[in-house]
Amino acid sequence: MEIITAVKGFKDILPPETDKWRYIEDTAKDVFRAFGYSEIRVPLLEKTELFRRGIGESTDIVEKEMYTFLDRGEESLTLRPEATASVIRAYVEHTLHAVESVTKLYTIGPMFRRDRPQKGRYRQFHQIDVEILGPDDPHIDAELLLMVIHFLGRFGLKNLNLEINSLGCLECRPAFREAVVQFLHGSEEELCGDCRRRIDTNPLRVFDCKMEKCREIITKAPRLMDFICVSCREHFAQVIACLTLFEIPYAVNPNMVRGLDYYTRTTFEVTTEFLGAQNAILGGGRYDHLVRDLGGPDVSGIGFAIGMERLAALIPEQAKNAAEGPFLFIAALGEKAVDKAFSLCNRLRMKGVRVEMDYHSRSLKSQMKKADKLNSAFALILGEREIEENRALLRNMRASTQEEISLDEFEETIMKIAR
Ligand code: HAM
Repeated sequence: MEIITAVKGFKDILPPETDKWRYIEDTAKDVFRAFGYSEIRVPLLEKTELFRRGIGESTDIVEKEMYTFLDRGEESLTLRPEATASVIRAYVEHTLHAVESVTKLYTIGPMFRRDRPQKGRYRQFHQIDVEILGPDDPHIDAELLLMVIHFLGRFGLKNLNLEINSLGCLECRPAFREAVVQFLHGSEEELCGDCRRRIDTNPLRVFDCKMEKCREIITKAPRLMDFICVSCREHFAQVIACLTLFEIPYAVNPNMVRGLDYYTRTTFEVTTEFLGAQNAILGGGRYDHLVRDLGGPDVSGIGFAIGMERLAALIPEQAKNAAEGPFLFIAALGEKAVDKAFSLCNRLRMKGVRVEMDYHSRSLKSQMKKADKLNSAFALILGEREIEENRALLRNMRASTQEEISLDEFEETIMKIAR
């Protein structure tokens, strides 16, 4: 019979890849806890209006990428294309702003965008999303960036670029936008079809166009830095001063505009050349009006989202293995030894120790090979003779040393070293 495959652009995440994902999530939770974040879980499905208003009508996401449908009650619903709008909706709906003056939240889960699938770009992908709601103090921007760099540093990743920009505010951006529109009209004929259309809907997106000709034209476009007001300029200077204080390398990228309309002031991306065309591991920025636009009080926010597929692709296999190997592998030879191993193995598992064994009682050599492949910290070697003499060989796989232990004290011995 014909098999049923997954939907195009939707991907299964299989073991052992899932070990790496858990390693990423555990590291994220660990780092975020230290910086004072709490987890929030929001629905995958929202009213379409939330994203239209939150992300912006003329963005690519809202115009062409959302999975939107009428449910059986004729209500327009959308699978979330990102988490920020949902987190802010929950923040406003449950008046979390009344609980604390600064709210730090993170959420992890799948997002949906019906873009053209390619390497590093999927229709269902996963984000680790982080948001801070509170005042628009530049120290908050810097603290968030510091956490980003620290988090990525936990995986020992090299050659990452932190690109940062300021998009100005509602006071200063309109004049810049007007100057860009004028400029683009001057070169309208040479722009690609998408950019020509964007001139009147979302002109700043032209800065992000990947077409050679558009990129060439945009190098001569007006610069936002020449238009931003004094307070935006000072805000940006203070963020940069904090980054310098913490010795965080960065590059100002004046062409970074981001694909969502809610941003104001600080925006950033972390990119790497190892991911090909889809080179952004994460992106984020400040949004000083989103809470208000979604019906909440005048509270500012800043956040970012990491693409988990892209981060996982950068993390070497060894990193995950070191974190995920079993503690003990029991190699048993002969029927009696397999029975004994089965019982020892499961007793230890019930005490919380990760133990593996092989039920096929293959040769000792192949079992030790498997222990090695699994990256087990210890191996217990159990043959018929050992069972008769109530003892076994315990091998430290990392130090390549071994000792004989009595099976009477087996659990105590293992629990002592596993602690
Ligand atoms: P974004 O730049 O649209 O921002 O997405 C953030 C990250 O999600 C990207 O840098 C990328 O790693 C990953 N990503 C996006 N689309 C795909 C895709 N189709 N396939 C695989 N990975 C993808 C946001 O979503 C904002 N909500 C971030 C934010 C939070 N800003 C403020 N707070």
